[in-house]
Amino acid sequence: MRGYQIAAIPGDGIGQETLPAAKRVLDVLGGLHGFELSWTDYPWGCAYYAETGAMMPEDGLERLAESDAILLGAVGMPGVPDHVSLWGLLVPIRRQFDQYVSLRPVRPLEGTRRPLRDDSPFDLVVVRENTEGEYSQIGGRMFHGTPNEMAVQEAVFTRRGVERIARYAFQLATERSGRVASATKSNGIFHTMPFWDEVVEQVAAEYPGVELTRYHADALAAHLVLDPGRFDVIVASNLFGDVLSDLTAALAGGIGIAPCGNIDPTRRHPSMFEPIHGSAPDIAGTGAANPIGQVWSAAMMLDHLGEAEAGAHLVAAIERTVRDGLVTADLGGRLSTAEACDALVERLESGA
Ligand code: NAI
Ligand code: MG
Repeated sequence: MRGYQIAAIPGDGIGQETLPAAKRVLDVLGGLHGFELSWTDYPWGCAYYAETGAMMPEDGLERLAESDAILLGAVGMPGVPDHVSLWGLLVPIRRQFDQYVSLRPVRPLEGTRRPLRDDSPFDLVVVRENTEGEYSQIGGRMFHGTPNEMAVQEAVFTRRGVERIARYAFQLATERSGRVASATKSNGIFHTMPFWDEVVEQVAAEYPGVELTRYHADALAAHLVLDPGRFDVIVASNLFGDVLSDLTAALAGGIGIAPCGNIDPTRRHPSMFEPIHGSAPDIAGTGAANPIGQVWSAAMMLDHLGEAEAGAHLVAAIERTVRDGLVTADLGGRLSTAEACDALVERLESGA
């Protein structure tokens, strides 16, 4: 039997509810498709921080390095500043393991309520740069508490970083509809975004069969709301990709269903799969969390591990449960997290 070592980090808030749901679903799938996942649970996050002063132990990354993949819930809770929780756990994993692609496919599922009047289908992927860009620790603050108080924040764009994310996006477009939209802001951002544009155009020249269109990120946001169907692959920097992928997820019916892979395409390090949503402290502990974002991320993990058939089976089961209205409150249903998980398992077992 094929076997995989999976590191599970439920993290905080609803991660504690959605991750166990995904584990259950994956164990059932393994039985159906002839593989076994051996799980190692890591209780890291804000509760761990409250006890120890760190989001994960010092050898945390070494321990994760031994796994074939990482499945993560969400991190962040009131009481710990968000930049502390993010930079103490998620960012180190993404960077240490060179997970330079944040891959965020978005398409509405039949049966979801959507905010747009025009509910034509769309099917797009946001390819977000995940290791550099606007998210940096370079900068500083001065004159705390005085009228001259100030903050400076530097962004980091390297040729290697932009080239490799652009190449990933163009390669992906060759396997899809052959269109790449690049999110820029080279009118307002004087240095880094013109550099981004230049490098993306140079990479585009390697892919004559792929059409590149450049959009300022603000206009792109508007186009996405007005006509998401015109987009296929969207390549974006760390910040713009973060914002645009929440926007597209909401257009598809809600951030509770959207998946994400933090991928090291070289496979030298484990990749990490997580829903795009956060820890949702407002509903944590109520049993109302939608497990689909987490479960769909787990389907992406199966694809990455080479279990594409099981991944496709799982996505089909997700589609079926949503179409049948067997969903949590955020999608207009009445099920709890556990009941939504039961519905998925039933569909898997009945061969749906
Ligand atoms: P959030 O994604 O946690 O919540 C936004 C809204 O969406 C809330 O009303 C929440 O109830 C709802 N929601 C999110 N996921 C849902 C699900 N699965 N089912 C039903 N409803 C769902 O974003 P927010 O409120 O900005 O952040 C809360 C905390 O999460 C913060 O500490 C933030 O830093 C952290 N966060 C962590 C992320 C991660 O671990 N990758 C990503 C985004 C935020
Ligand atoms: Mg985000």
